[in-house]
Amino acid sequence: MSSLNYDALRLIFVTTILLISSTIALPDQAPKSSSTQINSNSVLVALLDSHYTELSELVEKALLLQTLEQEVSAHNITIFAPNNEALERQMDPEFKRFLLEPRNLKSLQNLLLFHIIPARVGSEQWPGQDVGSVSVSVSHHETLCVGESDNRLPLTRGTTGEKIVGGVAKVTRPDDVIRPDGLIHGIERLLVPRSVQEDFNRRRSLTSISAVLPEGAPVVDPRTHRLKKPATPVPAGSSPVLPVYDAMAPGPSLAPAPAPGPGGPRHHFDGESQVKDFIQTLLHYGGYNELADILVNLTSLATEMGKLVSEGYVLTVLAPNDEAMAKLTTDQLSDPGAPEQIMYYHLIPEYQTEESMYNSVRRFGKVQYDTLRLPHKVGAEEADGSVKFGQGEGSAYLFDPDIYTDGRISVQGIDGVLFPLEETKEKPEKVSPVTAPKVVSKQRRGKLLEVACWIGGSLGHFTSCY
Ligand SMILES: *[C@@H]1O[C@H](CO)[C@@H](O)[C@H](O)[C@H]1NC(C)=O
Ligand SMILES: *[C@@H]1O[C@H](CO)[C@@H](O)[C@H](O)[C@H]1NC(C)=O
Repeated sequence: MSSLNYDALRLIFVTTILLISSTIALPDQAPKSSSTQINSNSVLVALLDSHYTELSELVEKALLLQTLEQEVSAHNITIFAPNNEALERQMDPEFKRFLLEPRNLKSLQNLLLFHIIPARVGSEQWPGQDVGSVSVSVSHHETLCVGESDNRLPLTRGTTGEKIVGGVAKVTRPDDVIRPDGLIHGIERLLVPRSVQEDFNRRRSLTSISAVLPEGAPVVDPRTHRLKKPATPVPAGSSPVLPVYDAMAPGPSLAPAPAPGPGGPRHHFDGESQVKDFIQTLLHYGGYNELADILVNLTSLATEMGKLVSEGYVLTVLAPNDEAMAKLTTDQLSDPGAPEQIMYYHLIPEYQTEESMYNSVRRFGKVQYDTLRLPHKVGAEEADGSVKFGQGEGSAYLFDPDIYTDGRISVQGIDGVLFPLEETKEKPEKVSPVTAPKVVSKQRRGKLLEVACWIGGSLGHFTSCY
């Protein structure tokens, strides 16, 4: 029963995505109702609902649904679909990681589009049908991959007459899926266009010369963003029991007065040197001197962050670059406590990386993160293949991702200074400990809720999913 429900749900999900993307896709055209909506009989719907689940997932991740939908509304397509095995076990994990990094979206798109021909090529049209005859033994077809200088795929035959595509991949399931607007051939391996291979090689040689994690960096559970294991063995109750707000130094209208502490000055981690380390990294990175100066010289925030990290809390710093800081007026900075207030709004009490943030905004459309400036949250959404924080004029893009990530502190460079939306008059900044937002990272949602939130997010409704 549960698998039946899941299948039904998946079908609804897929169809809804297609419907949504088709209604959103063409803002500058008059709504053409039926003609722009994708047919449930389409090869595209069939692909997303087929046993090529790995490929479908990549197509979704690559944000290609709209593009492909426009393609099938104009002409037939032929998809060479690598089976799940090819994308799961046979694929170099490093290459896969590369493809899934948000900044390599273009490579992922090119890779996938290289598997699609904008024409209908059934197996009966394969060249060299009559083995031994002198007729055509190879035919070339342009693919949808525009980023490739030679974007043609050759169709040939192997020595025993088997169908081969791209010179390397055997067609294991010819005409596997046939629909009025296209068809799918199952193939046994991935086709990698040269440009993508080159991008990957370039990136790989870059990463090999830049150290990523400091030695002994703690391991973070990607599902919870919590440490998997404390770096040093400590007695029971090592992870902080109180919300981070309780551990913060009391400040004006910042946080509730500290409750009896989470065990006093227990130093599980050397937070001070980690903070020093990230500030050094910021200075070396360049372009973040103002922020470093505020943290170290203008306020005691660096010290405070060090204490929090020592207690086992994790932090993500949205770091405005110097250009952004230069736009701050003296007015904005001169109120007592103003620099702290501004900075607290840029501190998220969770460990987030570029990848984790990008994945959430992709999935839910809009996401809100708690900040250390109670009770304000900072909103994030996907924009231009990146993450955008805040709203309207006061928004900022994730500009320099993962400047520093050591498992407890993550520093993400942004190109603007963020301010909370004006709080409403009847709700002054008085936060009782009871209503203080919990720091506990959000639990996994049910599948249904995920779908609902995703759809709601895409449509811009459903604020309850935040
Ligand atoms: C797709 O191919 C079929 C069969 O050749 C044809 O009847 C149909 O018109 C084509 N569709 C488009 C959109 O070109
Ligand atoms: C703090 O101020 C000192 C003295 O002006 C300066 O040398 C140092 O670079 C500043 N620190 C940071 C992190 O900017």
